[in-house]
Amino acid sequence: MQALAIIVAAGRGERMGAGRPKAFLELAGETLLARAAAAFAAAPSVTGIVAVVPGSELAPARVLLAPLAKLRAVVPGGERRQDSVREGLKQVPQGFAGVVLVHDAARPLVAVALIEDVVAAAADVGAALPVVPLVDTVKRVRAGRVVETLDRGELAAAQTPQGFRIEVLTAAYERAYRDQLTVTDEAMAVERLGHAVAVVAGSADNRKLTTPEDLAWAEGRLKDMLPA
Ligand code: CTP
Ligand code: MG
Repeated sequence: MQALAIIVAAGRGERMGAGRPKAFLELAGETLLARAAAAFAAAPSVTGIVAVVPGSELAPARVLLAPLAKLRAVVPGGERRQDSVREGLKQVPQGFAGVVLVHDAARPLVAVALIEDVVAAAADVGAALPVVPLVDTVKRVRAGRVVETLDRGELAAAQTPQGFRIEVLTAAYERAYRDQLTVTDEAMAVERLGHAVAVVAGSADNRKLTTPEDLAWAEGRLKDMLPA
């Protein structure tokens, strides 16, 4: 099934503290946004890419992404991540019947194989996302006291790309906005519909770069990945 990728890069990157939105920071000479977009450009099932960026970065982003043959649009984002996703969804062509992928530009080391795994599972089940197991024991905490210890075996950390058959994501977003709900990922909106969401194995390299330490880690990983 063919897929259209929405890459969300419209956040401010406040925790990175770099003075420029983090998707436009460079990792070994290439911006996070360009790296993430290149992975989707290399994925055989991806036929189109939409980038959602801060309004102030619209012109540079268009220059940056112009070499990508699969680029469909570069559009300004919204206040919350979900608002940026919604702006991207507006660029899905009428009559598109495949899978929509939503990916954080802040995960620039996403592998093509992972993208394809998500597309396959989303085509099959209707919704899919990559997850990784938690390494720490997780406590529910309220007012400075532990309420309970959660069963770690049942918990997983969500990554992107998250993939959905277009009609599933559209319905979930319409409902979320009608109900004035804030969702921290797309799958959460789909779960509320009672629709099944499949998981595929995510990867440590697909970590979201949030702080300067994460950026330094990614530089190191890229060096390790280069052939000696
Ligand atoms: N994002 C977006 N639009 C927003 C907020 C976030 O497109 N209004 C994107 C970010 O650009 C990022 C992804 O969603 O690629 C995940 O968000 P996060 O890691 O929180 O990035 P920022 O919001 O930029 O960082 P911070 O929360 O530290 O400001
Ligand atoms: Mg944020």
